Amino acid sequence: MSLTRRHVLGGVSAAGLLSGLQAQAADDGLRTHAAANGRFFGSAVDANSVSGDKALMAQEIIECALLGGEDAFKWDTLHPGKDVYNFADGDALVKFAQKQKLGVRGHTMLWHKAMPDWLVKSLNSTNAAGLLQTHIQHVMGHFAGKMLQWDVANEVLEPADKLPGGYRDTPWFRALGPQMLDIAFNAAAQADPGALLLLNEYGLEYAWDVHKAKRERVLNLLSELKSRGVPIGGLGMQSHLEAGVPELDQNMLRQFCADVGALGFKIVITEFDVRDNRITGDVNTRDQAVAAHGRAYLDAVLDAPNVMGVVSWGLSDKHTWLNHDYPRADKQLQRALPLDDQLQRTPLWYAIAGAFDAAPKIG
Ligand code: XIL
Repeated sequence: MSLTRRHVLGGVSAAGLLSGLQAQAADDGLRTHAAANGRFFGSAVDANSVSGDKALMAQEIIECALLGGEDAFKWDTLHPGKDVYNFADGDALVKFAQKQKLGVRGHTMLWHKAMPDWLVKSLNSTNAAGLLQTHIQHVMGHFAGKMLQWDVANEVLEPADKLPGGYRDTPWFRALGPQMLDIAFNAAAQADPGALLLLNEYGLEYAWDVHKAKRERVLNLLSELKSRGVPIGGLGMQSHLEAGVPELDQNMLRQFCADVGALGFKIVITEFDVRDNRITGDVNTRDQAVAAHGRAYLDAVLDAPNVMGVVSWGLSDKHTWLNHDYPRADKQLQRALPLDDQLQRTPLWYAIAGAFDAAPKIG
């Protein structure tokens, strides 16, 4: 069976997606463990690595069935001026992926970050719908037929902002209200009818009250979008984890995935990493804590048949956003990803492989 986008649509299994890719993986990369389980493994990759890091990209081919752009598909990269589009990073990623027969995922259209200055300055309630539609038509139209998935909307909920529905207070929301999602997803479905369209969100993973509130809002929102006929295929759970957090409740995670599934939606783990700021000690101690935490999380979510696959945010500790956004107090590099900064497999790699191996097969 060959790789067609139909396989990620309409409830068709991720196994279908991968069976055509498996043949070329003569190794035991994470993609192979995931595929044997009926799922996929992929990672987001930054543009500099795509263009200049041959050693890392060689590992991407071994480990991943699909690649995502870390920043390549964001507004400020793609659309730096009102009438200026720059597809260079996205095109380079797609070209690499196509050559290696890997899938591609895009990220993201409706987000309160990575908004170029011209957009922030000009956005108002009169022009917002048109700007959003035009951007989506242009960008998703450009990549149409080449993408498996798109995180159409990102981080639109923030119960702490105290808006009705738990929406985040953003320029898009202030201009358009909840309709921003109808506009974005309808434009996306029109521009690339074959791609799996996701609502991507963070802060869903732990038993903390703030995460509980976000989970409840997500379920309400998915249900509302479904009843409005908004063409959304599933939920992206970012899954930026932190080793040593005690409030990782596997039953709660299983229940949440089941609740999303009961509404008819798929789930993709879209930005998996396990930062280790809470863990002191030597590298071995940190690695064991990271691996145990990642394994506990994946064991729970991979129990759910609607969880299609796992995408890590970066593949190697050589380059992870965490070193910038969540630096360790001791200034050591994070040990948050399946490969370390020397591109060696970490205990987290074995935890991910083990979780795929142990999970109930889907498809
Ligand atoms: C991050 C990128 O990794 C960085 O390169 C960039 O500087 C900032 O954004 N959640 C998301 C991603 O949805 O888009 C973020 O990516 C990480 C957190």
